[in-house]
Amino acid sequence: MTYINEHYLKLTAGYLFPEIGRRVKAFTDANPAANVIRLGIGDVTEPLAPAVLQAMHAAIDELADRSKFRGYGPEQGYDFLREAIAKNDYQARGAKVDADEIFVSDGSKCDSGNILDIFGEDNVIAVLDPVYPVYVDTNVMAGHTGPADATGRYGGLVYLPVTAENNFVPELPKQRVDLIYLCYPNNPTGVVATKEMLKRWVDYAHKNSSIILYDAAYEAYITDPDIPHSIYEIDGARDVAIEFRSFSKTAGFTGVRCAFTVIPKDLKGKKRDGGEASIHSLWNRRHCTKFNGVSYPVQRGAAAIYSPEGKKQVQETIAFYLANASLMRGALTKLGIQVYGGENAPYVWLKTPGKLSSWDFFDRLLQKGHLVGTPGSGFGACGEGYFRLSAFNSRANVEEAVQRFAKAL
Ligand code: MLT
Repeated sequence: MTYINEHYLKLTAGYLFPEIGRRVKAFTDANPAANVIRLGIGDVTEPLAPAVLQAMHAAIDELADRSKFRGYGPEQGYDFLREAIAKNDYQARGAKVDADEIFVSDGSKCDSGNILDIFGEDNVIAVLDPVYPVYVDTNVMAGHTGPADATGRYGGLVYLPVTAENNFVPELPKQRVDLIYLCYPNNPTGVVATKEMLKRWVDYAHKNSSIILYDAAYEAYITDPDIPHSIYEIDGARDVAIEFRSFSKTAGFTGVRCAFTVIPKDLKGKKRDGGEASIHSLWNRRHCTKFNGVSYPVQRGAAAIYSPEGKKQVQETIAFYLANASLMRGALTKLGIQVYGGENAPYVWLKTPGKLSSWDFFDRLLQKGHLVGTPGSGFGACGEGYFRLSAFNSRANVEEAVQRFAKAL
């Protein structure tokens, strides 16, 4: 018999979203006539922007022509895309990021999990609580934690609570940590980080020689001009932070798959002999060995969002989802529910009414309203008593959902 990676056996139940899917399937099997509206997983519903489609069609046509055909592309991504990202997402906002510091990939979920390949075994890891489950589960899989306790928290991880009590602003860790996962606009709470907040983290990382893993997958939803879109808008971040970005929620690429990770060349890690190693070089080595690049038509489609018409079209879709979030916020507030987020983010985070547990509220919404959301406790112990609604849906479904809240609560 072949040995398995027993760290997987420490993982609690299923991954959150498949678990929700399982429960919803059981409900729809028992109630086949129910018209269930899904506001659970943050999956986009609106079609790709015309500029993206046009660019992808043109790229496919190139592949049909022997003189323009392309096989393997550069593992790190085509220059046309890396340059467009560096110019529009960073340099235009005053952040120094060069094209060759950008690694194009097939998703931020994959990158934020795979990044652990290049870090050592003994790092102390901090996560917010509640948290995007991928950060925790991938550390469990890699053997960086002990078993979970009764609340689902894994031994060895440093959890930093973010709840209404601290206004969703995490305290800095009381102990020294090596790796810190931050996600802003935050999944699941939908709250944002100010420049001052990020500066405190960058200073902490400098003081403690830590590295911040900054997930900015939802930055395109920021409408407040004072809120930073990238950690590299903060002085000193280049030598303490890695940033993950995605076209999934920015341009509806959840099914198309394209994202990127930024690793500044200034960023260094520590060797056992006390010397330093370039994180950029390690990731480049890993990327070239384990990844063969994102397909050419997809990268052309991604690059099209930086054209003037692409920018406008993508912005319209983002505004559409934000208007959905606003409708939900308004309706829930009228019903006396305390809501957070949903203003610079596609997620509305709410306090469950009547002190219901997150999963009890999930069941109530499903049974009485035929509505699906995400139980806050699925994101961590501090998510208990909270619930997440995703604004990714058609307007008709959101309007219908808003009507059904009143009946279900
Ligand atoms: C979510 O609903 O939290 C996201 O869709 C998950 C993801 O982006 O992987």
